[in-house]
Amino acid sequence: MHEPLLLSIIAFLAVALILAIRAMLRYRRRFHERTMVVRGGRIPTVEPDALSTAFRRNELGYGPDAEVSMIPRFGAPVLGATSDEEQWILSVLARKASVLFEFGTCTGRTAYAWARNAPADARVYTLTLPPEMTSTLRVGADDATEAIRNAQAESMITTYLYTGTDVEHKITQLYADSMTFDETSLVGCCDVIFIDGAHADSYIRSDTAKALRMLKPGGVILWHDYRGAHGDCRDVFTVLNEMAGTMPLRHIHGTSLVFYRHDGSSI
Ligand SMILES: C[S@@+](CC[C@H](N)C(=O)[O-])C[C@H]1O[C@@H](n2cnc3c(N)ncnc32)[C@H](O)[C@@H]1O
Repeated sequence: MHEPLLLSIIAFLAVALILAIRAMLRYRRRFHERTMVVRGGRIPTVEPDALSTAFRRNELGYGPDAEVSMIPRFGAPVLGATSDEEQWILSVLARKASVLFEFGTCTGRTAYAWARNAPADARVYTLTLPPEMTSTLRVGADDATEAIRNAQAESMITTYLYTGTDVEHKITQLYADSMTFDETSLVGCCDVIFIDGAHADSYIRSDTAKALRMLKPGGVILWHDYRGAHGDCRDVFTVLNEMAGTMPLRHIHGTSLVFYRHDGSSI
């Protein structure tokens, strides 16, 4: 066989092999994202009824305590969004909450769902990084670079889903870098806290430390994007696995949510 022809065949086979491997890895990642199977996690997976009795089921399925009002995502590409299952769980928790706090507003989808489902006198605080502060993010030595890049990309929104709605008055929009946010006025006040800001190691640790101080006895903290050891959210996985060594964390089946409930003892 001519040498140039042989080289072309080898090059063709090499490219085909690389493309096939990439397609296989992409398929595997999407499969895990879809099924929400978290491999290699150290956090026990539980059903939502471990979080609240509102999620108890009988032979007819979930009951009226799990009824909420929410805008479905249903496959639409919404920036930084929770899945419909996650949004439902967060909304159910709002029904009996007085004070809710979110790290990371993005489109305002969760803040809106909380305000819509929480009692009339509830207050929703949502903290986000304003566009003009994205260059000042403090990058820690162990922070995944993709997590910092995503935090910057998701900080360009200034009008939210709740803007102009009849529940906007229930929401306090806060602007700050969560690392320097002063939580003092909310210490011991929050029933539900959602940690979904910068997904980088140093930020997850700092946001969690603040959330623990802000939590009311009996209150609950939820973290988003516990997905596995690879990808943009890998710091969430690493940090939460580590924290699970000293805190009773639980992963909610079929979601990327992890929760912690304050049992009333001192933290
Ligand atoms: C994944 S999105 C949040 C999605 C939102 N929780 C929801 O349920 O629709 C991440 C958000 O965190 C914000 N963010 C990123 N880094 C932050 C920081 N250091 N301090 C405060 N907010 C931050 C981004 O501006 C973005 O709005």
